[in-house]
Amino acid sequence: MEKIFIKDLKKHDGNEVTLNGWVYNVRSIGKIWFLILRDGTEMLQCVVVKNDVDEETFKKEELLTQESSVTVTGIVRLEKRAVGGVELGVKSIEIHQIAEEYPITPKEHGTAFLMDNRHLWIRSKKQHAILKVRHQIVKASRDFFDNNDFVLFDAPMLTANAAEETTSLFNVDYYGRTAYLSQTGQLYGEAGAMAFNRVYVFGPTFRAEKSKTRRHLTEFWMLEPEIAYCDIEENMEWAEKLIVYIVEQCLENSKEELNFLERDISKLEKIKAPFPRLTYDEAAKLLKDNGVDFEYGSDFGGTDETVIAEQFDKPVIIHRWPADIKAFYMKRTPDNEELALGMDVLAPEGYGEIVGGGQREDDHDTLVKRILKHDLPMTPFKWYLDLRIYGSVPHSGFGLGIERTVAWICGIKHIRETIPFPRTITRLEP
Ligand code: 4AD
Ligand code: MG
Repeated sequence: MEKIFIKDLKKHDGNEVTLNGWVYNVRSIGKIWFLILRDGTEMLQCVVVKNDVDEETFKKEELLTQESSVTVTGIVRLEKRAVGGVELGVKSIEIHQIAEEYPITPKEHGTAFLMDNRHLWIRSKKQHAILKVRHQIVKASRDFFDNNDFVLFDAPMLTANAAEETTSLFNVDYYGRTAYLSQTGQLYGEAGAMAFNRVYVFGPTFRAEKSKTRRHLTEFWMLEPEIAYCDIEENMEWAEKLIVYIVEQCLENSKEELNFLERDISKLEKIKAPFPRLTYDEAAKLLKDNGVDFEYGSDFGGTDETVIAEQFDKPVIIHRWPADIKAFYMKRTPDNEELALGMDVLAPEGYGEIVGGGQREDDHDTLVKRILKHDLPMTPFKWYLDLRIYGSVPHSGFGLGIERTVAWICGIKHIRETIPFPRTITRLEP
C-alpha cells in the first residue's frame, strides 16, 4: 500500500487516509480533543470528536504522551485555521507504544543536556530544519558535480600516510601496523582525476584537533572535487560556481527551513559570482590597514578571517599563500618559490574558511623533495608519486567543509548542530 505523508495531505482533501507518526501534543476541550501528529515531514492537527468515534478511541486522549507512536486513520479536510492548511477528522487510532516522560520539553535546556540527548533532540523543529538544509546542500552539491561531468570517486578512510598536518592524525591499530583515519580524500582524488578527468570525493574525514572551537569537529564531511588539466584560476571558478549553486538551491528549496531558523535571506541573495579575490599579501595588508596586529607569513586566525570577510558581502577567495604554512603537495608560483598556489574561500558574516584547496605539485622530483622536507616517510607515497611518472598534468582541486557551509547558510553559531551526531574532543556519545 502506498504510504501517505503529512506534507502531501492537501492532495487528499475529502479522502480517508492512514498516517504513521508520533504524538507531538494532545489538548482537550471537553467533547473534542486534538492530537498534533508529527510524521517527520510535517505536523498535523487531528481532531477527535466524541460523537464521531467509539468510546475506546475517545478515551485514548488520557493515554497518549508526547512522542508516543501511533497510526491514525481519518478524513482529510482543508482548514484555513490549521497549521499547514489541512486537518484530519479522526476515525480510529492505533497505539504502537506509549512513550515514557519525554526529557526534552519546551522549557530551555542547556547545550550539554541537549547534546547528551542528541538522539532525541534531532526530532525538535530547529534541529530538524538545520539537518534538512544539510540534506539540501549535499543534494545540490552532488547535482552540481553530476551535471558538470564529475564522477563520484570514493576514497578509503583507512590510510597509510598523512596528507595534512601530522599533528592531527588519528592512529588505528591495523593488524599490528599503524593506519591513520583519512584527513582528506584528496590524494586519492588526484589518482581519480588522472583516470576520469573530473572526479569528486565525498565522505567523512578525521582530524585530532587540539583546540576546541565552534568551527572544529574531529569528524567532519568534506566534498572534494579534483580536476585534471586545471590551474588555480579555473579551480577558483569551480569553487565559486559550486557555492553559488548551493546557495541558489537552498533559497529555492529550503525557504521554509531558513525562515524557521530566522535566517536573513537577503544576505544569502547577495551570493552571486564573481567573488572578490585577494592574494595573501593583499589580505595581510588589509588586516594591517584595519589596525589588526598580524604577523606576515602566519596563517589567519578566526578573528583575522572575520575582519577580512567583513569587508565584503560575498565569500572572498584568498590565493597564493606562503608555502611554509601550506601542505607539501601544493605547487609553487612560477616566479616565487616562497608562494604556494593555494586558495581558501572565507564565508561572509564571520563564518570563516569553508573551502581549502589549490593547484597540486605535478613534477615528480620536486614532490620528492617536498616530502623529504616535510619529514614524511617516502614509502606510503610511492603510489602518489607514480601519478607524476605516468602522464602527469597540471591539476587542481579543493575541499568544501559541509558542516561549516551548513552553519553559514543556516546562520547558526556552532557547527556541532550541523551534523546528526557531532564528534568533538570531549564527545563520543551518543
Ligand atoms: O583546508 P583543509 O585542511 O584542506 C584539505 O584538507 C585539502 N586536502 C582539501 C582538498 O584540496 N581536497 O580542509 C578543507 C575544509 C576547510 O576549509 C573546512 O571547511 C573544513 O574542510 N575543515 C573542517 N571542518 C570542521 N572541522 C574541522 N576540524 C575541519 N578542518 C577542516
Ligand atoms: Mg585550510
